[in-house]
This record gives sequence, C-alpha cells and structure tokens, in this order.
Amino acid sequence: MYINFWYPIVRSEDLSPDTPEKVKVLGVNLVAFRDADGNAAVLSDTCVHRGGSLGGAWSAGTAPRIVDGCVVCPYHGWEFGADGKCQNIPSIGYGTKTPPRAKVDAYPVQEKYGIVFAFLGDLPEEERPPLLEVEEYGQEGWRANSILTIDIDYYYERSVENGIDPAHNEFVHPTHGFSGVNRETYKVRDYETEDHMQGWGFWFMHRFDAPPLKGETWGDTRKGSGELYAGGGTYGPNVIATYITPSEGKQFRQYFFEQPIDDKTTRIFFLNMRSFMLDPKHDGPIHARNKAIAQQDIDIMGDINPRQTPMSNTKEVLMPADKAIVAYREWLEKFDNKGWRIDWEAFTERNGKDTAFAIPCPDRSTSGNWVLEEVPRITSRINRKASTPDMKAVS
Ligand code: FES
Ligand SMILES: [Fe+2]
Repeated sequence: MYINFWYPIVRSEDLSPDTPEKVKVLGVNLVAFRDADGNAAVLSDTCVHRGGSLGGAWSAGTAPRIVDGCVVCPYHGWEFGADGKCQNIPSIGYGTKTPPRAKVDAYPVQEKYGIVFAFLGDLPEEERPPLLEVEEYGQEGWRANSILTIDIDYYYERSVENGIDPAHNEFVHPTHGFSGVNRETYKVRDYETEDHMQGWGFWFMHRFDAPPLKGETWGDTRKGSGELYAGGGTYGPNVIATYITPSEGKQFRQYFFEQPIDDKTTRIFFLNMRSFMLDPKHDGPIHARNKAIAQQDIDIMGDINPRQTPMSNTKEVLMPADKAIVAYREWLEKFDNKGWRIDWEAFTERNGKDTAFAIPCPDRSTSGNWVLEEVPRITSRINRKASTPDMKAVS
C-alpha cells in the first residue's frame, strides 16, 4: 500500500451534510464530512486530545455532529475544521484560542465522477500524481452508470492484477470465455504493454474469443466478429481502466478505483461508461451484469494464497500472458523506490496498540507540531526483482 496517490473515500451520494463518515483506508482511520458550503473534507480520524474517533459513535442524542463546518469529536466536543485545525475546545471555553498542536492531518479533496477522492500523502501540489482524468465523462455520446461499490475480502493488489489478467477470462467468466472447452485452438494471443498516456501506469490491447452478449438489452452486439477487442491498464497502484469494444463504434470504458482498507479487505468504486445503449433504462441491467461478473472474480480470488502479491516473481511461474501483471509490479517497484510504500509489518506491530498512526498530509512538509506519528514506510524495494516472462517457454 502506498501513500501519495488519490484514493476513493466515499460515494458523493453517501456523504450527507450532517453526518460524518468514518472510513478506513491504507489501514488508517479517516473521517469524511461536508463543511458549511457542502464541500467534502477528509481528515485523520484520531482526535489528538485523547484519541477519540471523530467519525465514531455518538451518544449526544440530537446534538449536531457538524457545527459551523467543523466535525465535533464525540468524546469532549473539540471542533475540527476542514483544514484540520481545532477551532474550539469546550473545556477552555468556546471562542478561546486553541494551541497549535490541536490539529489533525487534512487531505486535499476532489469530488468527481460521483466519488469523494482524497490525496493521501504529503507531496506538494506540483509533485502529486494527478487523479485519473476520465475524458469522456460528461461528454455527449457517453453515459455513466451511478457508482457501484464492490466489497471484496482480498488485497487490492491481487484485485488489480486480476483486473488486467487476459488469461483468466476463459476460465473465470463464462460470460467472456468458453471454460477451456476449445483445447485444440485456445491460446492467449501475444500482446505488448506500453506506458500509459497519463504517465503513471501502463496499457495493453488484446483480442480474444468470447461468446456473444445475449438477452433483450444487449442484442447480438458482436455478430459476425466472434472476437472481443479490449484494452486494459493500471494507473498508480490502485486504478484499473478497461476499454471493451463489443463491435465497431460501441465501447464500454470501465474504471475501478480501488480503496485498500487493509491487507485483506478492499472496496472497489466502479465507474462504467458506455458509448451505446445510452437510454437510462439500460443502467439497471448493466449494473446487474457487472455485479454478476464481479462475483465470478470474487468466488476465485477469495482463495488466492498468499494474500499479498509475492515479494519476488520467482515465487510464481509467470507466462507471457502474465506480462501485464509483470508490468504492474514494475510500476509498484517504482513507487517503492520513491519511498511511498507503507511498511505494513512495522505498521501492524504498533498501530492501535501503543500508537495511532496518521498518513502524513501536505501541511507536514511546511509546518511542525504534529501529534500523531506518520505511517512507517520502506525506503526502496528490497528483494522484488521483476523477471520478464520467458517467451521461448511456450512458443
Ligand atoms: S478525545 Fe476528542 S475531544 Fe477529547
Ligand atoms: Fe475478471
């Protein structure tokens, strides 16, 4: 898991103006709420007074949880603004100046595509990897489904690898493949990966055989081709983009913004764009189909061992069809070498026991007086050399 990327926090529609939402991301508790103007804010959830949870349980009956744009700690009522600074400490009297250490980490926020995103890291604005730009969003000729959230009980990197894996369709998805019945002819066609246009990942295009889409909604949209042309890639550690072209001029573009909760749970925020079947009446059936396909992955992925991607590619036997997985791991290695990877072992050893960690926010690089310790990070990749799959092995 990495700091210094944009992560989905909550769906816009789930963040009400009067109730904060507590969310765990990268193993750390955060609180999201709306300020007086309705703008979303995301803070470290741990109150620096004596460890209360800003988004946690509330026993003050009907008293407001958000006052003058500040989230109120349910323990002793300290009020924190969207900038993380404590505005009021009731025990010293409302309106009394608060000490400089009375502040929590506050993260840059963007609300886009129906999702509240936060930049979880300390990089100054000009150095931050940007949030992925979905260029067709809001454009004529395209329709977006409402955001579907999918909760999975496996590590997000395994989920990302599954999302870019061209060899699993045949076996995991009867909707996309033939379950291995064509033993004479089946083979994953060769493909090449290349760096992604937006600079923080890679991309590949791939053609594979798939059964036609059936049903009243879909029609036989692949008539005559018998093939599905698709592209996929990753952006940062936690975003997958997939373009699927069922037939000439018709395209699905799917974006999976993954929220790593901890090393065993993930919430996926799924944005489905389409350039055909633009009538809203198709939204429901598309959601239903996407859910059914996701469940096919979940059934397999829950059993993957080990839970995390191995620290060395020699711990698995990778084939040319796994090139995309290797490309993703090479990108992760770059992020490791920037010092952005959380040292999960060191983190879990102390987090929640004698220590409350915070993900460092950008203000940490320009000001002091921070109470919580930053999440520990590794400084570089130690022993995880990516090996290129041996093409000769299968030719
Ligand atoms: S712990 Fe938050 S106000 Fe005391
Ligand atoms: Fe899949």
